Formats: sequence, C-alpha cells, structure tokens
Amino acid sequence: MRRILIVFTLGIAVLMSGTAAAQNVPQLKADNINDVVKAMTLQEKACLLVGFSNGVDYSGLITGPSPSGKELVDGAAGETMSINRLGIPNTVVADGPAGLRINPTRPGDSKTYYCTGFPVSTLLASTWNTALVTEVGKAMGNEVLEYGVDVQLAPAMNIHRNPLCGRNFEYYSEDPFLAGYISAAMVNGVQSNGVGTSVKHFAANSQETNRTADDARMSQRALREIYLKGFEIVVKNAQPWTIMSSYNKINGTFTQESRDLLTTILRDEWGFKGMVMTDWTWKRNTAAQVNAGNDLMMPGNKDQIDEIIAQVQAGKLSESDVDICVKRVLEYIVKTPRFKGYKFSNNPDLKAHAEITRNSAAEGIVLLKNDNQTLPLKTGQQNIALFGVTSYDFIAGGNGSGYVNKAYVVDLLQGMTNAGFGINDQLKDLYKNYMSYQKSLRSFNKGDYWDFLVKNLIPEMTVDKNVIEVMAKTSELAVITIGRNAGEGADRKIDNDFNLTDNERSLISNVSNAFHAAGKKVVVILNIGGVVETASWKMLPDAVLLAWQAGQEGGNTVADVLKGTVNPSGKLPMTFPLNYMDHPSSLNFPYYYSENMLPNNGDNEHLQKNVDYTNYSEDIWIGYRYFNTAGKEVSYPFGYGMSYTTFVYSDAKITPSGDGFTAVVTIKNTGKVAGKEVVELYIAAPKGKLEKPACELKAFAKTKSLAPGESQTLMMKISTYDLASFDEDTSAWETDAGQYSARFGASVEDIRATVPFSIKNASSFKAHNVMAPAPGLSLLKLK
Ligand code: BGC
Repeated sequence: MRRILIVFTLGIAVLMSGTAAAQNVPQLKADNINDVVKAMTLQEKACLLVGFSNGVDYSGLITGPSPSGKELVDGAAGETMSINRLGIPNTVVADGPAGLRINPTRPGDSKTYYCTGFPVSTLLASTWNTALVTEVGKAMGNEVLEYGVDVQLAPAMNIHRNPLCGRNFEYYSEDPFLAGYISAAMVNGVQSNGVGTSVKHFAANSQETNRTADDARMSQRALREIYLKGFEIVVKNAQPWTIMSSYNKINGTFTQESRDLLTTILRDEWGFKGMVMTDWTWKRNTAAQVNAGNDLMMPGNKDQIDEIIAQVQAGKLSESDVDICVKRVLEYIVKTPRFKGYKFSNNPDLKAHAEITRNSAAEGIVLLKNDNQTLPLKTGQQNIALFGVTSYDFIAGGNGSGYVNKAYVVDLLQGMTNAGFGINDQLKDLYKNYMSYQKSLRSFNKGDYWDFLVKNLIPEMTVDKNVIEVMAKTSELAVITIGRNAGEGADRKIDNDFNLTDNERSLISNVSNAFHAAGKKVVVILNIGGVVETASWKMLPDAVLLAWQAGQEGGNTVADVLKGTVNPSGKLPMTFPLNYMDHPSSLNFPYYYSENMLPNNGDNEHLQKNVDYTNYSEDIWIGYRYFNTAGKEVSYPFGYGMSYTTFVYSDAKITPSGDGFTAVVTIKNTGKVAGKEVVELYIAAPKGKLEKPACELKAFAKTKSLAPGESQTLMMKISTYDLASFDEDTSAWETDAGQYSARFGASVEDIRATVPFSIKNASSFKAHNVMAPAPGLSLLKLK
C-alpha cells in the first residue's frame, strides 16, 4: 500500500514537472540558486543529494536515461546527477592525491588518457615548501580540468597516528600544522585552475583495518589539537570546494552522520563555505547524513533517494534541511567547468608536468646519512653495482584509489644511466632474469590500479656472497634499493614490512662488509611510502637516502640527487623511531589483525579492540610530541634531514605584531655548494593548567637556493590563537600568559637558536562542547 502511495506521489511529481516545464522553469545560473531550489520537486532534490558511479545513472528517474549510458570520464570515481529540466548538468569527481586517476584507455578509442604520477603526499610534505606544493597542485589541477573532471578527490590529510597505517603515503605528516599548511598550498594550487578539491578523510581515518566501521575513541583535546587542526587550517587558508567525510566513527557516531562535526565545528566554528560529500559508502542512515550537513552521498544508491523522500514525507527529516544541502550542491555545481561549458582538450601538457614532477620530488628527498661525503657521487662513475629489485622496478607511488595510471615510470637503473653513470652489467642481468621469472609467476595486470602491487611485490633476490665479493672487487661502489609498497584497504605489518626482512638485512650487511673490505662505499636508497625500521642497520652503509615514492620520474629524480645536480633539502615530516612499539599508539593499533578477526556485525557485547573500536589512549602524544617530551631516543627525529652544504642560523628575533608575533632568522650557507634550508619554529609554552608537549611546531619556512656564502632572512608569523591548547573544562582554546620560548630548529632535536618572549594577558577562544567520548577512556599522562 505504502509503495503504491509513493509511486503515486512520484507520478504526481513527474506530472507537475511536466506542467512546470511548460511554464517558465528557471534554468540554473550562479545568481538564481534560490529560485531553482523553490522550483524543484522533492524527488529532484533527493536525486541531487545522491551521486552515482560506474555508469549507473539514476538521474533517469527525472531526466530519462542519460544520453551515453556510461561515465562522462572513463574511470572517474563518480558523478553528481543532472536535472535537464532545470539546466543542472552532471559533474565529475575523480581521485586522487598523487595525480588524477582515470582510465588510461577507452574501449574503441586509440587515444590514451594517461595522467602524471606525481610524488606521494608524504614526499611533498618532506619538501616543507608551500610554494612548490602549490606549483605541483597547479599542474595536477590542470590535468583535472583538461580531462573534463570537476573535482579532484584530494588532498588526503589524515594524521600519521601510527607508522603502519596502510594509507600514510597518501597523507602528509604526524604533525597537524605541517599537514594543514601543505594541504592548503595544494588546494590553492589545484583550485587555481577553476576546478575543485575534496579534502579527505574528515576525520580520524587513521587505520585501514575495518576502516568503514571502526570507532575512533579519543579525548576532545586530541580530536581538536591533533585530528581536526590540519583540516581547520586548510579550511581557513584555502576554502576547498568540498570536504570528504570519512568512513569511520568518532566517539560512537559516523562522521558522515555527525552534525557536531559537519555543521557545528566545520561550518559554524571554522566558516567552511563548501559542500561535504561522503567517502564511498554504499548506504548509511541517509536522513541522518542530510541532517548532519553531509550534502552529497557518494557514490550513491537509489535507496538513498527513496529514503530521503520517505523521511521527509514521514516528517522525520525536515525539507528545510534538505534544501540547505541542495543549495550547497548547486552552489558547487555553478562553479564547475562543466556547468560553465568549458571545452576540455583531453590533452594536458604531460611533458611539462613530468618536468615539474622530477624537480618537485627532488626537494622532498631526505638525506639521512652521509659519512665522509659519500654523496654526491663522483660524476661519470662507470661501474656501479646496483642491488635490490626495486632499483630495477622503482615504486612511483602507492596503491588503491591513490594510484595513478601513468604512461611510464623511470626506474633507478634508467635514471642513473641517463645521468651518465655506468651500471655493472653482470649484476644487472642477474636481477633482470630473476625479475622476469618472478613476474612470469604472477598474473599482474599493470593497467589495473586496484590490483595491489603490494601483494605482487617481487621479493628481494637472495644474492650469493660470492657474487657480492666479485662485485666488491670489480665495481666502484654499491647502491642498494630497499622498496616498500602499501595501499588502501589494508594496514602494514611489523615483520617483513616495518622491519626489514632477513634477506634485506643480509643484503645490506653482506654488501657493506665486502665493499668496505675492498675500500669501497655503499649507499642505501629507501624507495618507501611509510616509515621502516632503520636503527639496527643504518650504521652499515656509508650513506642513506630516503627517496620516498617519488612519482613517475623517480629514477631521474634520485639520480639528480646522487649526482649533486640537486642538493637534498627534504626534512622528515614524521619521526623514525628505534622500534615500532616505541610509538604509544602501537598499543592500540591493529598490527596483529588477522583474517579471523572479522569486524563485528552489530553485537555490541563483543566488539573487538582495534577492529570495531580503537582507543586513542596515547591522546595528544603523537610522534615528536611524545618522543621529544618523554626524552625517548629515536632513530631520526621529526624535521631531520641533511644537506651537501652547511648552514648557520643567526639574528633570531621574535617581536609582537598584529594578533601575535613575527619571528625572523638569518640563514647563511657556510658550505661549498648551493643549497636550501628549512627552518622549523617550535614553541615551548609556560607551565600552565594543561600538560603540554615540550614544544610544538608553529611555523616553518624554506630559503631559496643559497649560493656558498649567501644569506637570507626568513620571516614567520604566529598568531596568539596558534599558541592555544584545547581545554575541555572550558570548551575553549586557551593561550596562557607567561614566558614562552621560540626555538629555531633544523629538526626538533637540533635547535640552533632559542629566543624567549612573553605574553602578558591570557586569551580564550570559545568553541563548542561537542564530540566527547563516552566516560572511562583511559589516557596516557607523561608525568
Ligand atoms: C577512498 C577515497 C576515494 C574514494 C573514491 C574510497 O574508497 O577511501 O579516498 O576518494 O574511494 O575512489
């Protein structure tokens, strides 16, 4: 009976649409959104709030079957619905953080649609160079525009809570301040093309295990200071067109259904003006999502349309809430190139973008060790022994929705050859034969982004000691690449992933022993997307270069740094601990997750720790906030990175200005080659009511390339609000009065200048008392 009623109601709606069409129906324009909302039927409104993907077009409900019956851009993640009657076109959204993800080929079409594989986000954060990240964003956004896409589902900016999160390569940092400003730079770059971004995943999507249902349980302080801060920075500094709510819950509520998060905090407190879309869930409580201010459901499902209509008709969802979301979707649509009728070329300048990739990646490479100036290599060395399977099959980026269908990847062999180095042929042949045999055992389709390379990664070849000895005698130097990959849908493991495999350890130690005995040097290249253990083997080689996953030009980029064409200036955006378990979050992370620990299906009595829920018991003690405050030794500290030259810091000052302070410091290149230096400004707060980290990053800047002897004075701004901590008792950001100190550092542990300053009057910035955890969550205290 009810169904008959709905069908009947829809019938009337369609009938009314017909009549309305005959009258003068408003056609969507930037300045008539309110009129269009008024003219819309409830069914049309519901359809506009629900997207679609894979060519399934529910807009047929309103507009008749879509003309092509397939995706507007092959391989895009989804579309919003069109309503022809009102002049509302479909718009297209596509992944992802390391470049646009669309299908590289199309049936019956000989043209290719490759996109540039830019460096992964973690590498971009390692540049600490916002201007450079904006340039990368401009190039990425140009591909979005020229391939007919309206929104890039990026940047991704979840906090590196734990080194094993499978998607850390897509994210920036363990520090929200760095993540926030790098992300804002990216959004500004992409959006300068007149296309949108979707900053994701809002918020606390810190693990892949049971990612669609895990409940992240944390204090309001940790939520505000660690997990939301970066998003707050990007909203206030870049106004992304859209934000993507995450899959997980926070303190018991799905973020997609949280009005506290999506309206009270995001819009009322931070002033977000754009649209919120869900991450790619099939169906949740759609009415609750609309009510929360989650405007668009992706990828969309017809049931959700029915649910919105039914809930409004039953008086359970107010039509005015629906209208608010509809208005925001329309405000988004009128900004899109598709609405504006932009004629995209399907022909972005991939050559120019490859150049940008190569150069930007070089700035994010981190020199971890360089004894006796092993690097840069002497130019023209002709007999280098190149070890490690990834030297011959470089990993350009991670997997899952962050994978990019690129035309090629330059491996290290190719890159070094291009740079004029000679590679030992015998060893090269050994590896090539081994790898082609290993590849023949795997049915891996390179064109398919979802075909996890992780599972298909070729295991390291066991190189016989005799071979190593021959190499040590006959070649000039050894380079060993250690590779790692990870991807969406799975977290990493401790053994044979965070920790090196026995085979990799033997390779490093056997090669180091043999080459050192022959008076020759060894360089290790880390071609990884996330942190690995380094403390137990880093003493063996002479140099260690952290190349991350440097994009499609990776081999050329690394060769530029090996050769010294580029002086490394990257610094770590996270801590490299001595051991995995040193991170307090490791006590509450699903590193032991196994297939038989399936997520709970609603039986609340038997929820599984770290699968159905995760206690963020480490509270605000993430990364260096913990290590530096607890005085715990690390392998490489946050902010660390070496250079081929040396820098001296002088004339550090901090003076009151505007609503805060201005800090200046002069950096002089005191070495023999040109180079850039990152300055990190950490602030230590006075002892107040709340326990605070020993210091926190509050500003950073990077010099231009300074010639030997050249100086540059850098200026950084800090506001009083930036110095506040979140006090749960007052539900406010509180900046204490008292004596502070500004530490100008080359890393969090390498402070080059300290300047005291004081704040006379405390300040309080009111927020809302929302999203508290259930009582009883135990939290780490350091004192
Ligand atoms: C991922 C998002 C991505 C979306 C669309 C989801 O599974 O979590 O990051 O944007 O798919 O591909």
